[in-house]
Amino acid sequence: MKVGVLTGGGDCPGLNAVIRAAVRKGVFHYNDEFVGFLEGWRGVLDDKTMKLDLGAVAGILPRGGTILRTSRTNPAKREGGLQQCIEHLQKLGIEALIAIGGDDTMSVAAKLHEMKVKVVGVPKTIDNDLSGTDFCFGFDTAVNVATEAIDRVHTTAEAHNRVMVVEVMGRDSGWIAIYSGIAGGADVILIPERPFDIDEVAEQLKRRHARGRYFSVVVAAEGARFKSDVDKEHGAPVVSEMSKDEFGHVRLGGIGNVLAREIERRTGFETRSVVLGHIQRGGSPTAFDRMLATRYGMGAIDMVHKGESGCMVALHGTDIVSIPIAEAIGKTRLVGDDLINVAIGLHEMLPKKKEEVA
Ligand code: F6P
Repeated sequence: MKVGVLTGGGDCPGLNAVIRAAVRKGVFHYNDEFVGFLEGWRGVLDDKTMKLDLGAVAGILPRGGTILRTSRTNPAKREGGLQQCIEHLQKLGIEALIAIGGDDTMSVAAKLHEMKVKVVGVPKTIDNDLSGTDFCFGFDTAVNVATEAIDRVHTTAEAHNRVMVVEVMGRDSGWIAIYSGIAGGADVILIPERPFDIDEVAEQLKRRHARGRYFSVVVAAEGARFKSDVDKEHGAPVVSEMSKDEFGHVRLGGIGNVLAREIERRTGFETRSVVLGHIQRGGSPTAFDRMLATRYGMGAIDMVHKGESGCMVALHGTDIVSIPIAEAIGKTRLVGDDLINVAIGLHEMLPKKKEEVA
């Protein structure tokens, strides 16, 4: 069979491991031929390809990034874009496409499936927010990078009697923040799922210092929201750029600095912030992510040969399963109460405010 492969959206550790597994199983077990589309959907739209044979995937298992490169191009946003993709796939004789990406990449895959293109998806994102799967590869690596950073920040916070705020990625979900925050022993963890009151955060830190601790570490997801007077329920995220990408996302970021200023003002404790940013996305995948990515790549090529389309490989418990792409897209998978309660259980409860008691 002639199979196309692409990687779309933000890169993440493990993309190369998926490509390698699909190509090796396809060549060795199914006699497949592969075409790599460059820079996500842009490669399909503009007919930019590379040969994807055993030589091309040799030695890429531990490498971060993606040998196919990536982009946030959305063909559905271009006049006749999806039709142009189909024409290029037909011209190249592609019989099935493996699309490795997050919600945005999967939404294009779903549209092409409706237009009769055979397409199978593989869930990727450090944010771990894709519905229908328990874990996306790349997340474990990002959590390990963030946890190591929190450990390092701990020692300098301790040495200087400071509060350190660590801003981590995650878009509209708090998976990276809650995992790395718990694993790194953070004193306060702020996630988009629970908009926070800055006065309560300051109170929490003051109580900790009153107990004799002289430093603190705060982990904030980039999408964490201040409870505001405008919208007490949902608050508003801090953004670094208002303009939207082709999938309609604003660029988040900047909450770490805002928090550091507001905490210092309210507590009088010297406070600094650090933004981990793309460091969480780069570099070599952990063994967990290499393993998961390899199982996903293999699952995807097996699904192609079972004749499946419009499906995505997913992890349910410890099993690799096939689910309809439609189940994965359009709804962000948020951190659940079980994990939030683990974080709450580790810290002192603030006394209820008068209005909460009433
Ligand atoms: O979706 C992955 C992610 O790293 C988010 O956590 C983050 O908000 C976004 O991508 C950053 O995108 P970019 O690489 O375009 O700055």
